Amino acid sequence: MRRIALSVAASTMTLSLAGCGVLGATGDGASASPTKGDDITVGLLLPEKANTRYDKFDFPIIKNKVAELTSRKGKVEYANADADAARQAGQMRQMIDDHVDVIMLDAVDSHAIAGQVKKAKDAGIPVIAYDRLAEGPIDAYVSFDNELVGEVQARSLLEAMGARNHTSDKIVMMNGSPTDPNAKQFKQGALSELSGKVRIAATYDTKDWKPENAQANMTKAIGQIGANDIAGVYAANDGMAGGVLKALRAAGVTTLPPITGQDAELDAVQRILTGDQYMSVYKSYPDEAEAAAQMAVAKVQGKDIQFDALTQDRVNSPTTKGIPSKLVQVSPLTKDRISGTVIADGIYTVSDICTPAYKAACAEAGLK
Ligand code: GAL
Repeated sequence: MRRIALSVAASTMTLSLAGCGVLGATGDGASASPTKGDDITVGLLLPEKANTRYDKFDFPIIKNKVAELTSRKGKVEYANADADAARQAGQMRQMIDDHVDVIMLDAVDSHAIAGQVKKAKDAGIPVIAYDRLAEGPIDAYVSFDNELVGEVQARSLLEAMGARNHTSDKIVMMNGSPTDPNAKQFKQGALSELSGKVRIAATYDTKDWKPENAQANMTKAIGQIGANDIAGVYAANDGMAGGVLKALRAAGVTTLPPITGQDAELDAVQRILTGDQYMSVYKSYPDEAEAAAQMAVAKVQGKDIQFDALTQDRVNSPTTKGIPSKLVQVSPLTKDRISGTVIADGIYTVSDICTPAYKAACAEAGLK
């Protein structure tokens, strides 16, 4: 928790410095080695489409922020790999050949992409690891505090299971893709809270984060444990929570165990309202995406002081130590927190959530 408090203090400080114009003093003209003006191209590589966050939030927010920071002259060249690591390597190679000015990389496979990261570096193109920590000589990293995501999920799951002792209660763990380093951190964070408190009766890593793979694994778990003997499901994200729910319903379960999630997807928020899913984790995409855009533009324009102010945290990857980073905080999203998170931040409006099928649940939760 101390680490979190410190990093929040650091980012607040950055904001207030910017507000006083101190950072502005290092802006146009005052940089040690201004390399580029506003006419820049940012290459953006995102990993998949099954999860709605990438096309719906990350890409448009980054695009708008780059435009805003460059008097509308900067462009974003965007490619989505659709969960295919080889396709992403090809997309990155293309961006290197196109001589984009900087690459923001959200890796499908953080290890396999290291060769392309090295190629970009050799071609003089800085690489910012976006959301997932790519291996190889990256220049910076921006993400959420991913261990905290796992801790928040697990704490909520225990809270939903009630105050009594749960050491012999069986839960299922549905973790994310083994090629995504975040998945490992979510799992570590969750295990730090769950170990010794519940029985983890079945645990899976889910290929490509695909909801249908989670559904198939959940069907197996139900076969092993028994449909009515599952006290809770740790699902690492909302897409998989949806798959888990389908498997439970197909097995005839009517009193659902609490199920966790992550990403605050619209259908997950609706499931939380009706009680089909217990919680999600709300991660502020604007905070992450705008920080990435600021880093990319500062890097290309040689605004070193601004870049340093944006990257006060330090993170190690398997290949690189002390990577300048920014880790953004996260919050739990349970029924009582819908209006204070996704609605307050303008991610969804009440009418996005409260469609006719959810009118009654919305009224009950006081959403209007
Ligand atoms: C993680 C990311 C999550 C989610 C997941 C795939 O790396 O942090 O927000 O997008 O991938 O669904």
